[in-house]
Amino acid sequence: MTSAWELLLPAASAPARARGRALREALRDAVRSGRLAAGTRLPSSRDLAADLGVSRGLVTEAYEQLTAEGYLRSGRGAGTWVGDAVRAARPRARDLAPRSSGVHADFVPGTPDLSLFPRSAWAAAQRSVLADLPHEGLGYPDPRGLPRLRTALAELLARRRGVVADPERIVVVSGVAQATALLAGVLHARGTRTAGVEDPGSPQHSALYASAGIGTVPLPLDREGLALAPLHASGVRVAVTTPAHQFPTGIAYSARRRAELLAWARSVDGLVLEDDYDGDFRYDRAPVGALQGLDPERVAYTGSVSKSLAPGLRLGWLLVPDWLADDVVERKRTTDLGHPALDQALFARFVERGDYDRQLRVCQRAYRERRDALVSALAGHFPGARVTGIAAGLHAIATLPERYGPEERFVTRVTQAGVAVRPLAAYGHEGTVAGPAAGGEVRLVLGYAHLTPGRIRAGVARMAAAG
Ligand SMILES: Cc1ncc(COP(=O)(O)O)c(C=O)c1O
Repeated sequence: MTSAWELLLPAASAPARARGRALREALRDAVRSGRLAAGTRLPSSRDLAADLGVSRGLVTEAYEQLTAEGYLRSGRGAGTWVGDAVRAARPRARDLAPRSSGVHADFVPGTPDLSLFPRSAWAAAQRSVLADLPHEGLGYPDPRGLPRLRTALAELLARRRGVVADPERIVVVSGVAQATALLAGVLHARGTRTAGVEDPGSPQHSALYASAGIGTVPLPLDREGLALAPLHASGVRVAVTTPAHQFPTGIAYSARRRAELLAWARSVDGLVLEDDYDGDFRYDRAPVGALQGLDPERVAYTGSVSKSLAPGLRLGWLLVPDWLADDVVERKRTTDLGHPALDQALFARFVERGDYDRQLRVCQRAYRERRDALVSALAGHFPGARVTGIAAGLHAIATLPERYGPEERFVTRVTQAGVAVRPLAAYGHEGTVAGPAAGGEVRLVLGYAHLTPGRIRAGVARMAAAG
């Protein structure tokens, strides 16, 4: 037995009732974290069962479920391999991979509609920026970002998100991922060794902190946001949050919880990282301003154009408290000597001329229509289903009544029918909120923004026929 299988041993000694699930979670974690590398061939179910001292059925079930979720793949003949690790760990990369020919409808969340990218406006901005840019504009940029872009972003974020946005505190980065990595690096250098992450939450956060040498503590949610008692008990002083539209549950942190979270940060002399990943998309609820606007010295705020324009642009922003600003800028400088100047100038022009606001309006209209299509298709095909987290964002949570469960069987069936879905449980760390739903309900995270209303309706119909 290699050390990789030793990773699964604790799961094998879980109490009999929980053993199957513990095994699946341990296997998922091993793939997500890269401890089982992409392409690794797994032992036969018979051998692994013997090594772990569990029934062969449990191993077969775990292999089948993780294959359905995309973590593993099975060959034509016998054999099971670890799937592409990046695809398993990062929803975004997975989404952008070519769709396999057997997938008829892909509800995996994380991707906007890339066909809405404003090509002509972008091309016009590109031409004019190139024509106008003085030669010195092609030198190494200010590591914080071009002053012109930081000024445009400060105005935009203050107006749209209620952010307290001093251009001097903005750092232009290549996305939320880089913002998180820079911040994690700075915090590590200042002694931070653990950070709290939402559970369920984005696997990206844990992976990015891990790469900076910071361990993550999963923190459960309640209906209002991060649950307070576990946060206080955790001992962490840094917490990563998605308050506008929690990923993946879609809840908006309540006003009370926002205040409590900030009070916590002050009481531990800590920091909240606010990932405003889809904060621009609100449909029918009152705008929820950024947490950062309530206490800019306790919140680092980050966002990007990955949902509003395209993730391939690799462009985002980080607003840091004064006490971290110099360290973060220095880290950005040593990482890559600044963000590409032409891209920055282009985006600055795009924002200044109102093209970005226009793009947000176009997306907002399209995504609201798609959300409505999803909600009505689910109501038609899955009577009794509850759909939540729909006031904002690019995905929703569908809770299907017990008769469709158990969840794993449902997911396996619809996957076999060519409908890609992610159960909420796939985003859980320790099965707190994200554990399989009580009583055999099925809880799915359904991304809809990248699908036309027609494809959404067809996909839901296919799911209903299979499930
Ligand atoms: C929770 C969350 N935040 C942010 C991002 C976007 O990261 P980036 O801005 O680096 O593209 C993602 C992408 O999937 C995400 O899931």
